[in-house]
Amino acid sequence: MKSTSNFLKMKNEGEKIVMLTAYDYPSAKLAEQVDVDIILVGDSLGMVVLGYDSTVPVTMEDMIHHGKAVRRGAKNTSIVVDMPFMSYHLSIKDTLLNGARIMQETGANAVKVEGADEVIEHIKALTRAGIPVVAHLGLTPQSVGVLGGYKVQGKDAMAARKLMEDAKKCEEAGAFMLVLECVPKQLAREISQALKIPTIGIGAGVETDGQVLVYHDVLMYGVDRLAKFVKPFANMNVEVQKGLAEYVSEVKKAQFPTDAYSFTMKEEELLGLYG
Ligand code: KIV
Ligand code: NA
Repeated sequence: MKSTSNFLKMKNEGEKIVMLTAYDYPSAKLAEQVDVDIILVGDSLGMVVLGYDSTVPVTMEDMIHHGKAVRRGAKNTSIVVDMPFMSYHLSIKDTLLNGARIMQETGANAVKVEGADEVIEHIKALTRAGIPVVAHLGLTPQSVGVLGGYKVQGKDAMAARKLMEDAKKCEEAGAFMLVLECVPKQLAREISQALKIPTIGIGAGVETDGQVLVYHDVLMYGVDRLAKFVKPFANMNVEVQKGLAEYVSEVKKAQFPTDAYSFTMKEEELLGLYG
């Protein structure tokens, strides 16, 4: 299992870091089997597997429930669990209690928080308390209401400078990794070069220190619209629909189950049923 110092070393040696989300036991198991470096139990689970419109409704209980399942599926992979909406804003004490619950109840290796500004003090407190923190800047979906939609961040000089400053503040506060979401590739490159800690991009070009995508997007599984930055590497929608349609059809026609899928007994033993 890779540690924070392993990730730092990977950045320094130019080895790309592969992050992938997972939300349950089978996705975690498969992610571990293909040697994903770090699994993110993202609060995107609210949209991807719970069917909400945004990540805002996701609760601590949701994150812990899914985090536990992911840990059971990937015992030997580093796992980071998202702190959900409003779980790291109220007070430092609340943040520490929530961070501690996630670490202790799920067995995660780190937590992730969105934003800088007021969140910086919370990153500091978590890190000082021994909880490794991944920061997340650019498009921060928990603030979608304030950002006014899911769109590229840091496109003009002022916004770019703010993003660079925020990234440095996250590093200074103790974050060991930074996710950059929906940021022009040039800005993501500059931030990646300016920071000592590794950057993980999603919609941030190829020059970040690693990449992250959502499991169901990578496999096109249960999603029908993909963002510009998502490349589907398989089409599970087609496979799953094909398999399920055949199942329905064979049951309707009594073609399933054949003897190969059935248990049997001696016919004479059946006489005892009525005798
Ligand atoms: O929740 C999530 O999946 C994320 C990634 C997209 C970075 O935060
Ligand atoms: Na998230």
